[in-house]
Amino acid sequence: MTVSADDPRLYAGEGPRDIARVGVVGCGLMGAGIAEVCARAGLEVVVREVSDAAAASGHERIAASLNRAVQAGKVAAADLPSTLARLTLTTELRALAGCDLVIEAATENAAVKAALFTELDTVVRRPDAILATNTSSLPVAEVARAVTRPGQVIGLHFFNPAQVQPLVELVPSLLTEPDTVTRARAFITEGLGKTAIAGPDRSGFVVNALLVPYLLSAIRMLEAGHATAQDIDTGMTLGCAHPMGPLRLADLIGLDTLLSIAEVMHGEYAEPQYAAPPLLRACLLKLDETEFRFLLTLHHAIGDGWSVGLIARDLGLCRDANGKRRRERDAQRGQQPPHWASPTPRGGQHQRCTPAPHAMERPPMASFGSAATGHRTTPLSHGRGRQRRAAEGRLQENSAL
Ligand SMILES: NC(=O)c1ccc[n+]([C@@H]2O[C@H](COP(=O)([O-])OP(=O)(O)OC[C@H]3O[C@@H](n4cnc5c(N)ncnc54)[C@H](O)[C@@H]3O)[C@@H](O)[C@H]2O)c1
Repeated sequence: MTVSADDPRLYAGEGPRDIARVGVVGCGLMGAGIAEVCARAGLEVVVREVSDAAAASGHERIAASLNRAVQAGKVAAADLPSTLARLTLTTELRALAGCDLVIEAATENAAVKAALFTELDTVVRRPDAILATNTSSLPVAEVARAVTRPGQVIGLHFFNPAQVQPLVELVPSLLTEPDTVTRARAFITEGLGKTAIAGPDRSGFVVNALLVPYLLSAIRMLEAGHATAQDIDTGMTLGCAHPMGPLRLADLIGLDTLLSIAEVMHGEYAEPQYAAPPLLRACLLKLDETEFRFLLTLHHAIGDGWSVGLIARDLGLCRDANGKRRRERDAQRGQQPPHWASPTPRGGQHQRCTPAPHAMERPPMASFGSAATGHRTTPLSHGRGRQRRAAEGRLQENSAL
């Protein structure tokens, strides 16, 4: 299904339009939606993913979404084959060389994006090609610093799901040339038929600066036991006419993405409203539903996320990036699990648990004992959140508990 960067189809058929061929980097939740929107608008789209497996699953995601659009009457069945034919999946960044516009929708990580833009700068041939980022929270100027043509870099912040939501935030940095802004706006409004608003180049732009503290407050409310997940979501849907509650929306965004956004915004503004609640981090441990409920109850009873984190780890609930429980892993390495956690304590008596020294070094807010493992396995909202796909290296780095 993926093509090589030398495939002649990638360089054929330049149209009269300013932007006829779009490159999309990343085919996750957002990249797939953006690629679909562009293909539905009649543009040639080349999508780059990190592996054949990721490319195949991205293609599946787009095809499934297009099929749903056909069933809903949003896309004519007769247009489906040609729309799919306009999409090319690749693992080679060089395949984006002939693009007029590239929209980067890779993982929300400054280093990943900077590396991508540096490479795109050398790969994309057209000198005035627009290089856009779909980042939710990173300043566009940070990304622009990675290229030799910062005047062509702009933020195009689509909303989830991109194939449905009509808004795009247009975020020029201080370095973006006015011509780039004009062309990008024309692409969004005339090319894709969406509405553009101007966002300031500060973390969170307009929408996330308002939305993220709201979502984090809902998670804090659940964490404190003030209300159930169901009541929080019902309160906001029926009380405020929101189409979905904040916890379901947090799931839809992806809890690892929300955590990354919160961390960037908290780093930028150092305001408590952007601090990620311990429960959000706990959700990113690879816990099953029962384990998650158990920890939540424990957290409500003890009221101290750090202690709960130590207990979770010593009970062997924490897992590594491969989903292997810590206790199994320790046993393989010939280490004993903590004696107090075993069913029959040695000597027949319970002994006081002394957390391992490195555990004591954790700051209290790093509750449940872990940085994000990058897995959205335990949704906040009533067990129906989207499943987390395989984590990238950035997230796996943090996953050894
Ligand atoms: N999730 C949302 O609701 C939402 C909304 C607006 C914007 N965004 C932003 O969009 C971007 C992507 O978010 P997402 O939710 O789609 O994340 P995601 O985790 O669903 O997808 C990211 C994809 O990028 C791929 N990727 C990572 N490094 C890559 C590389 N070097 N080259 C090609 N592909 C690479 C991964 O394999 C993965 O498939 C982030 O910057 C995020 O902040 C997310």
